[in-house]
Amino acid sequence: MKGIVLAGGLGSRLAPLTRVTNKHLLPVFDEPMVHYPIRTLIGAGITEILIVTGGNSAGDFLKLLRNGKEFGLHRLHYAYQEGEGGIAAALSLAEHFADGEPVCVVLGDNILEESIAPFVKKFRHQGTGAKILLSEVPDPQRFGVPVLEDGQVVRIEEKPSEPKSQYAVIGVYMYDNRVFDIIKTLKPSGRGELEITDVNNAYIEAGDLSWDVIEGWWTDAGTFDSLLKASNLVAELRDRRTV
Ligand code: G1P
Repeated sequence: MKGIVLAGGLGSRLAPLTRVTNKHLLPVFDEPMVHYPIRTLIGAGITEILIVTGGNSAGDFLKLLRNGKEFGLHRLHYAYQEGEGGIAAALSLAEHFADGEPVCVVLGDNILEESIAPFVKKFRHQGTGAKILLSEVPDPQRFGVPVLEDGQVVRIEEKPSEPKSQYAVIGVYMYDNRVFDIIKTLKPSGRGELEITDVNNAYIEAGDLSWDVIEGWWTDAGTFDSLLKASNLVAELRDRRTV
């Protein structure tokens, strides 16, 4: 399985912090944000990793990450996203890199307390289709929200004003290689983007999406509140792990 970190976009919810740099280069406690999703993949045994970036300071990713030696990698792959086409558009740039293999995609501003290794293992056994991960949150309207009926995810709604569950679909997605064909069929949403939620809904319609609820905390870091929360959670985790 190959790993993809999506680290493009304008980060407009963090302006003016993102006026001159990329959101994913901002600090989360003692490290640049993009370090965390890279570690999430490596912690699941995924070492062939593509960073998709764009927007401001794309070149600084090379300067920061180089060949990934400090993560124990021999090399890192990079792709450049022109414009602001959305998460699914960014993912489409990984088709050549994936080369027919399944992929694990992590959004560059998503940080997790616990390893995703058990879920990656389950997806390897699943063989085809897709897997999403859910986390119970106090503010589901900020995220993709699963609609659950009889213990099944029947649909995902993107940032609904009236969420139908207390879960967020977190920014860690596992797909078989069909994902690239699905993206080619998508139409831009109201906000003019190709939505990852539409990709997941296509897998649900095909009856090929599994899901798990994660344990431990999860947060994005794309707003002022969540960026601060992420730093505090990481600081507290570091504290706990050094005792
Ligand atoms: C994106 C996805 C959303 C998901 C979230 C996780 O939202 O569209 O479905 O729940 O990431 O962080 P964004 O924060 O990019 O608007």
